[in-house]
Amino acid sequence: MNALTLAPQSAPENFDPPPSPFDVNEIRKDFPFLQVKPYGKEPVYLDNAASAQKPEAMLRATDQMYRESYANVHRGLHYFANRATDAFEAARGKVAKFLNAEFESEIIWTKGATEAINLIAGSFGATLKAGDEIIISEAEHHANIVPWVMLRERAGVKLVIIPIDDTGDLDMQAFYAAFTEKTRLVAVTHMSNILGTINPVAEMAAYAHERGVKILLDGSQAVPHMTVDLQAINPDFYVFTGHKLYGPSGIGCAYIKKAIAENLPPWQGGGDMIVDVGFDAVTYALPPHRFEAGTPPIVQAVGLGAAIDYLNKIDRPGALAHETALANATHERFSRIDGVKIHGTSAHKGAIVTFTIAGVHPHDLATYLDRLGIAVRAGHHCGQPLMRRLGVASAARASFAMYNTLEDVEKLADGVKKAKAFFA
Ligand code: ALA
Repeated sequence: MNALTLAPQSAPENFDPPPSPFDVNEIRKDFPFLQVKPYGKEPVYLDNAASAQKPEAMLRATDQMYRESYANVHRGLHYFANRATDAFEAARGKVAKFLNAEFESEIIWTKGATEAINLIAGSFGATLKAGDEIIISEAEHHANIVPWVMLRERAGVKLVIIPIDDTGDLDMQAFYAAFTEKTRLVAVTHMSNILGTINPVAEMAAYAHERGVKILLDGSQAVPHMTVDLQAINPDFYVFTGHKLYGPSGIGCAYIKKAIAENLPPWQGGGDMIVDVGFDAVTYALPPHRFEAGTPPIVQAVGLGAAIDYLNKIDRPGALAHETALANATHERFSRIDGVKIHGTSAHKGAIVTFTIAGVHPHDLATYLDRLGIAVRAGHHCGQPLMRRLGVASAARASFAMYNTLEDVEKLADGVKKAKAFFA
């Protein structure tokens, strides 16, 4: 690949000098959304698990790409096509390095985690037969339930559901006991988008592999909140979405281990995923292109690469510790408000706090907080089976990013107290 200089999307991979220690006030200068004043208030954005706000560096990279380096990729022989292709493929390399994948070709672009799971259900799923078993958990996002239900309707596979305990941890005894000689796949979240629970995924992968079973991890919430090392965890499939990692919407990835991907059929057909097309037969390209039919999300991929460049330049361990401290502070503040129940109290938990208040509907709460400039999500959070397990139809959720502050937490706790006094 040509080494193009397309600053800022091709920012140096090894930064020098080393990053200064995490300083939330410095980080906040990089996020233009903080200049917006909802209802004349300072923005308190606590809906990061739904989608994170964007740093200036990412916005500039996408703008610059459209202005200076835009064309379709892999198809043209001209200057603009070569610049676009180089930037697009460089972004793939950035994702591979960020997640410590062994090979760049293991990173397949999709439009998000949902499409990535559908890709795997469509491709790996096509190798399964009636009676084969797939283990999922009670705490999955709909994106990691519905594609498997659809596969069950298509192919007659069986779904085996692992329960959680009252803290939100997976019942590991049930997990171990769920394996039979027909088990083909485990598909679980790395970090729950509702409970915040971080599952023991390396242990689960090792256990599955000892039994010849493959494992898929949904990393949508984990990738923004922790350092993910794919070679250490050793999943067969890993998916995540870019918009929760400070990147654009419309871009995500399916990681598929090289030796597996090479033997899987395509899931969609079209341009750019073939070697040769005839009316009688088609020869498919090698991965990753075999799984990337049609014009891909070009600028979105480059934007995600720019978001990763940005994360590589800051003190990321410091940022992650800051987010965890904010979630812990929220637990502490809520524990002092009568009637607030936190759903998800695992000892292994990321920066997500889902809660209900006795006598206050979560939608009323979210609307009340919104008028104070505080954005939380309320609803079933795309996890209806989990909400049934928790015994609620709806809940509110505060989810943190590195630009949030302790003052945000105080405003949230104060807003919750006021809402309780107003509604309850
Ligand atoms: N999956 C996203 C969430 O949890 C949309 O809010």
